[in-house]
Amino acid sequence: MPSPSSARPNALARKAVIPVAGMGTRFLPATKAVPKELLPVVDRPALQYIVEEAARAGLPEVLMVTGRNKSAIEDHFDRTPELETALGVKGDEDRLAAVHESTDVAQVFFVRQGEAKGLGHAVLQAAAFVGDEPFAVLLGDDIIDARDLLLEQMLAVQAEHGGAVIALLDVGAENISKYGAVAVEEAKVSGDAAGDDVFRVTGLVEKPPADEAPSSLAIIGRYVLPPEVFAAIRETPPGRGGEIQLTDALLKLVEDGVPVHGVVFSGRRYDTGDKLDYLKAVVRLAVERADLGPQFGPWLKDFVADLPAEGASPA
Ligand code: G1P
Repeated sequence: MPSPSSARPNALARKAVIPVAGMGTRFLPATKAVPKELLPVVDRPALQYIVEEAARAGLPEVLMVTGRNKSAIEDHFDRTPELETALGVKGDEDRLAAVHESTDVAQVFFVRQGEAKGLGHAVLQAAAFVGDEPFAVLLGDDIIDARDLLLEQMLAVQAEHGGAVIALLDVGAENISKYGAVAVEEAKVSGDAAGDDVFRVTGLVEKPPADEAPSSLAIIGRYVLPPEVFAAIRETPPGRGGEIQLTDALLKLVEDGVPVHGVVFSGRRYDTGDKLDYLKAVVRLAVERADLGPQFGPWLKDFVADLPAEGASPA
């Protein structure tokens, strides 16, 4: 008799993969000893938002693809008996709950990438963990607002159409060279008040010069991928930057006739990838927080009102 899982006509994604092996050079010297994924966004590491997003979307098993100097990430998602006992003895329930948040949110597994040979290579390290099912990949630089159900919608599109689903954002022609860029069919596959527009993807290119980009639609860091992507990655030669690019493997899927869809995200995204965006993300998320916003918002307004006019030197 077939097992319940093999009887499913279209297996649903249950696992998430989060590559965290990057060196974080844009945040030096802060990232000399602290992984960039653990830099706090208000009061929790950027990476914790990503794990919470995966768990919320129904992906409770999370694999992190790590590298050297990343052991603090394992510590963050591990229990801390001494700290928990100390907080318990003090009766500090709020802080105890905050400590538990990082361990209770999902079941977190780790694999080491060994060599940093690109995002495609990082995702390939998840092959044994993923097996023969679709799965999600979440990149750490983008935090998606908890009220915007991007990953949920992507999982629904994948369940309906199969193949791969990527999150897209129109970043404008001036920014496209920093991203994977895509070409899409003109007609929407779907899109209504209840969800973001969905298009069939016809081409992808990793970080093209602006004048060679197929559109200003950029891949942002969310993917739902079929297990066939592993074979495609194995066949993908090093591309831009000499690295094995996930974007190139996705182009291979398109060429092989595997459906690849893009969901054009219209919600709130907090980019933590470079210093300026990181600062903006911290401020925006702090203003939104019920415990901080009521005090921080009015202070921020006064602060901004007192800023010298552009071009004037500070008092
Ligand atoms: C990676 C991908 C790129 C994508 C980007 C999104 O690039 O290779 O296609 O647009 O993530 O953040 P990275 O930012 O790691 O250089």
